[in-house]
Amino acid sequence: MLTIKDKTFVSFITADAIQARIQSLAEQINQDYANKQPLIVVVLNGAFMFAADLMKHLTIPCEITFIRVASYTATESTGQLKQILGLHQSIEGRDLIVVEDIVDTGLTIGEVCNQLQISSPASIAVATLLFKPAALKKPIDLQYVGFKIENRFVLGYGLDYDGFGRNTKDILVLQ
Ligand code: XMP
Ligand code: MG
Repeated sequence: MLTIKDKTFVSFITADAIQARIQSLAEQINQDYANKQPLIVVVLNGAFMFAADLMKHLTIPCEITFIRVASYTATESTGQLKQILGLHQSIEGRDLIVVEDIVDTGLTIGEVCNQLQISSPASIAVATLLFKPAALKKPIDLQYVGFKIENRFVLGYGLDYDGFGRNTKDILVLQ
């Protein structure tokens, strides 16, 4: 149990279940990229723990880089846009695996993939630890999904509530 700012969170996915699932996702990636050298693109902050644990089980040659997604309002009519920060290397011709903590509405990962696509990578796959199918607003291809979960707010194992709660081994849910 964890209390942050008067909200109580209880265990939802245990550390053991997370680690077992990540190992099998990594095995799948090792098979799918057997003759490739992918660039792992980690979306900070939430995916940092997932990415670290996933990398430990990858046996293929691979590189890793980290990006941030900044939201800004371009105009009132277009609403929120997402901008990728921190990608300083060329991704042209590379096989990208974008690593996310959670796909909720799908708007963030959709925008990230669209923007990466502009730089002509050879391929883009998405690995997300969590996916809330009921919250999805826009169809998106997710090649590697750790856990499909119901539409509830979760935290822990990298995910935060107002900046706090990232430092747990389990994933917790709002009680
Ligand atoms: P979408 O898919 O809606 O997700 O563009 C954008 C970002 O929202 C965060 N998010 C969450 N963070 N618990 C969290 O700690 C949640 O249940 C949750 N749902 C969405 C997350 O950073 C995601 O990348
Ligand atoms: Mg995130």
